[in-house]
Amino acid sequence: MARAARRMLSAKAEQFTESVIREMTRLAMKHGAVNLSQGFPDFAAPAEIKEAARQAISDDINQYAITWGAKPLRDAIAEKFERTQGVRVDPEREITICCGSTEAMMSTMLAIINPGDEIVVFEPFYENYGPDAILSGATPRFVKLRPPDWTYDEQELAAAFGPHTKAIILNTPNNPTGKVFTRRELEFIRDLCVRWNTFCITDEIYEHILYDGTEHISMARIDGMRDRTIVINGMSKTYSVTGWRVGWAIAPPEPTAAIRKVHDFLTVGAAAPLQQAGAVALKSPQSYYEKLAADYTVRRERLLRILTAAGFTVFKPHGAYYIMTDISGFGFPDDVAFAKFLVEKVGVAVVPGSSFYNDARDGATEVRFTFCKKETTLAAAEQRLSRLPEHLGNR
Ligand SMILES: Cc1ncc(COP(=O)(O)O)c(C=O)c1O
Repeated sequence: MARAARRMLSAKAEQFTESVIREMTRLAMKHGAVNLSQGFPDFAAPAEIKEAARQAISDDINQYAITWGAKPLRDAIAEKFERTQGVRVDPEREITICCGSTEAMMSTMLAIINPGDEIVVFEPFYENYGPDAILSGATPRFVKLRPPDWTYDEQELAAAFGPHTKAIILNTPNNPTGKVFTRRELEFIRDLCVRWNTFCITDEIYEHILYDGTEHISMARIDGMRDRTIVINGMSKTYSVTGWRVGWAIAPPEPTAAIRKVHDFLTVGAAAPLQQAGAVALKSPQSYYEKLAADYTVRRERLLRILTAAGFTVFKPHGAYYIMTDISGFGFPDDVAFAKFLVEKVGVAVVPGSSFYNDARDGATEVRFTFCKKETTLAAAEQRLSRLPEHLGNR
């Protein structure tokens, strides 16, 4: 092969772009904008959890943990999963601690996907699932969640399954829509998983961020799904420590053995002292989770009011900490043009809707806001967005 013609970079890496969400954070910094794009809290993490991390470092827990995770954290995960979901798992054979749920999802996909395998993905989807599919070699089959309730069409979902389906990826409570899947919806999905002999990989990272009396039901708890469910979760959102990079996969022993091998050679392990602090965090009393949800309820109401006053059509979330909005009334060619205008001229950073869809046109009238921010940040966004009509007039 002629040297010049040789492909020097991976064809896989060429198939996806940099993360739009994380790019928006960089743009927010560049323009001094209020950052309501990326989902990380700008308020303090709980004092006890930070103290536990400091203590772990002082106690010299500074070397590699067991590659699939420190035992105290695996035990705490098993105990909490049984307490909250009523599902017993074996911490010795069914849990793998990873560098964030991001790595847990990637290691899981690499551990189960073979060439020709398909995965079913609800759309709009958390943007990482696209590159996860490409890197693992899975062919995604997208099924729409439609506003205002983000329900799926049962026939459309059934048609996406087939003999090549290896797994469905579920995310409940959902980013970006705030949808919380009901038991009935989960049972319909269960029937398809059983019929086509597939896994369900369920990203439950927002499990405690719930509104309006909704309940988080893990797919692992649905009759017949215990042995085909892989639960992805982590500390990032529940304990407001997105930078710690501690997540995990809960899966039956066979897939766990494969996930552990992939994980070992990808990262060896997550930060040992932070895993130790994680064991403390997961033992938080019920009141901690109740306060977390109550505080986010206040922030949700606040941002819903701000956005409605500024002229956005809002889709009220029932879980997670995002609000999807419809921007068609503002008369922009697409979501990217609007997001650019908003960050540069109005000084508020959001995520263009297209980053949650396979076909950019499907998200052209949507942008996503996050409200995992302190009151002063939301007040600054309110002040800037109140001048949106003026900026629109000057266009
Ligand atoms: C649905 C979903 N899964 C996973 C992640 C990433 O989680 P982690 O910080 O544990 O890698 C996010 C972050 O925004 C998310 O929204």
